[in-house]
Amino acid sequence: MFFASDNGSGVLPQVMAALSAANTGYARSYGSDPLSDEVRRLIRQQFEAPDAAVYLVATGTAANALSLAILTPPWGAVFCHRNSHLEEDECGAPGFYTGGAKLVLVEGDHAKITPATLATALRQTPSGSVHASQIAALSLTNITENGTVYRPEEVKALTGMAQAAGLACHMDGARFANALVSAGCTPAEMTWRAGIDVLSLGGTKNGCMGVEAVVIFDPARAWEFELRRKRAGHLFSKHRYLSAQMAAYLTDGLWLSAAQKANAMAARLSAGFAALPGAQLVHPTEANAVFAAWPRKGHRKALAAGASYSLWPDSQPLDGPEDDLLTARLVCSWCTTEADVDQMLAVISG
Ligand SMILES: Cc1ncc(COP(=O)(O)O)c(C=O)c1O
Repeated sequence: MFFASDNGSGVLPQVMAALSAANTGYARSYGSDPLSDEVRRLIRQQFEAPDAAVYLVATGTAANALSLAILTPPWGAVFCHRNSHLEEDECGAPGFYTGGAKLVLVEGDHAKITPATLATALRQTPSGSVHASQIAALSLTNITENGTVYRPEEVKALTGMAQAAGLACHMDGARFANALVSAGCTPAEMTWRAGIDVLSLGGTKNGCMGVEAVVIFDPARAWEFELRRKRAGHLFSKHRYLSAQMAAYLTDGLWLSAAQKANAMAARLSAGFAALPGAQLVHPTEANAVFAAWPRKGHRKALAAGASYSLWPDSQPLDGPEDDLLTARLVCSWCTTEADVDQMLAVISG
């Protein structure tokens, strides 16, 4: 009953096998090896973007912060959701790597920015005066931090407004595959065709050991990224081990089938909560994360039975009236089983 995070899952067997296979002989370093060529080929092919520049890093925070660094000057302002990973979970890395750009926090239910909330934020953020930060970029997280999904037409509506205001557009796709299979669209439809300039394409949460790709759809921005990645200490010398993971992940639809499995388990869990007396869903379940509330006594039972998940927020006390609802985040991964889900629901209601 492990639902604490998809980061807690193991590595997909195909990815592990690819790492092992890569571990023979010699290969050129710093991304000049054949596996790195293969990653570039796979991403360009699958995103229908023959000119895209592709770079690998080891963490999502590096992917996001370095991506933003090529989209904003140090005096820029980056619009993102109030609950975004950029704002809440990156220890100020966007400010650090951009050399000082500030985040402008945009509202929206279920961690989604809407055209109305973006319009308000743009209106309230003066630019042009020497005294103000200059508006520079928009970052959308897909799937969002509340497990919801922007569909391509929603992305397009937001990037359209951003472009009209002169902003570049980034997508934090730490769970991009989960968003893609949920929306049922192609990688191109979700990104450059919908106005995204740079994508952080996650691998780790969906079954890699530790690799994320940055996909830059305008190659004119690529060289600066390369320099920034090196300067940040994120240019891995033994690059083939990052590339082996990403190549296996993107081969034979593995990334999509892994995400499909995770999303299906979350849908099963979500349906279980919807049917559980006294429980309620807090955000719509659209991908692999479920946000549900149920009475404190059910949490005590689940935790005593060894279930692992996060109270969301984690400040909710486990001591208190039995029937108070406490909200939790439960994340499914490629290795979550139906038995895990059913046991979790049974323990809470038992
Ligand atoms: C939405 C989102 N973006 C980015 C990240 C990347 O984080 P990390 O730097 O831990 O790989 C995470 C991880 O939790 C995330 O949830």
